[in-house]
Amino acid sequence: MNKNKKDVKIEIKKGSMDEWPEPIVRVQSLAESNLSSLPERYIKPAFQRPTTAEDAPAATNIPIIDLEGLFSENGSCDDVIMARISEACREWGFFQVLNHGVRPELMDAARESWREFFHLPVNAKETYSNSPRTYEGYGSRLGVEKGAILDWSDYYYLHLLPPPLKDFNKWPSFPPTIREVIDEYGDEVVKLCGRIMRVLSSNLGLEEDKFQDAFGGENIGACLRVNYYPKCPRPELALGLSSHSDPGGMTILLPDDQVYGLQVLKDDTWITVKPHPHAFIVNIGDQIQILSNSVYKSVEHRVIVNSEKERVSLAFFYNPKSDIPIQPLQELVSTHNPPLYPPMTFDQYRLFIRTQGPRGKSHVESHISPR
Ligand code: OGA
Ligand code: NI
Repeated sequence: MNKNKKDVKIEIKKGSMDEWPEPIVRVQSLAESNLSSLPERYIKPAFQRPTTAEDAPAATNIPIIDLEGLFSENGSCDDVIMARISEACREWGFFQVLNHGVRPELMDAARESWREFFHLPVNAKETYSNSPRTYEGYGSRLGVEKGAILDWSDYYYLHLLPPPLKDFNKWPSFPPTIREVIDEYGDEVVKLCGRIMRVLSSNLGLEEDKFQDAFGGENIGACLRVNYYPKCPRPELALGLSSHSDPGGMTILLPDDQVYGLQVLKDDTWITVKPHPHAFIVNIGDQIQILSNSVYKSVEHRVIVNSEKERVSLAFFYNPKSDIPIQPLQELVSTHNPPLYPPMTFDQYRLFIRTQGPRGKSHVESHISPR
């Protein structure tokens, strides 16, 4: 664990956050070049490859929760829905939500605008090429470790909040309506996150604004990573996205409703999520696990690819204000139940992730208080 911390310092000294350690290869280009085999850089070691033998029965799915009636006019909450959310956050770290308040047409418009963007020729996207310092723009790897085995995906990453970080010049300008669509989509998903944050607080017996206040109130951060998983010639050897837990507060994922790919780890078994049409997939990130002193779980997940169909997903990350220390809420700790994590700002936390790339749950676990 300490070794990782040291590595981060060395990398920063060398200034290597300004550039990638190797020339970037777009996965889209590889996929379009009719490869007969998978380049070595994408062949995962045997223990990380997707398995089918150990997978859960095909019918198993993460909880699906209908939010209709959760936020009634008189402000009262439905106990049954609240209890289902509570259980999902403790046992799964993942759930799908229906009747979440975001218009289905807006969800489709957002996904399909991004699909059009990714269908542009690679060279039309290179102007948006990103660097590991902020990750904003068009990217094809996470982490700066030289010689790392890479994931079979390209992505686009952008900031929506706080307002000073929202920079339209760093957003795509094609298709012509994409900026408007992302902007409206972002506003709607932020509202949904605010509602879910209130439920998460109330479910722990806290005032409903407790979580939001701990995140910095109005000054939260929000960013979007759009993942593009091209068809893969040898899907059994690769991963679209390696196992990781999300570093931020909460993620609202809009999956490709036509193509499965997301797998969630439950009791050491990978469960393939079956997306419900126009549902969102909500998942608890590391910062909410920390705030809740590990009552809520930020769970490992990964993405598998296939040789038949490309897949596009939108991961919306709802994060604490980046410079306030996040630690277990005082109300949730006692001498019998001491805080599991020391305070750390999201800026500090994110630095590890940006340097190392996806590594299961090692980030939040290495952050645990020494005992
Ligand atoms: C992510 C993620 C899942 C998916 O972007 O963090 O877990 O289905 N994405 O693309
Ligand atoms: Ni994720």
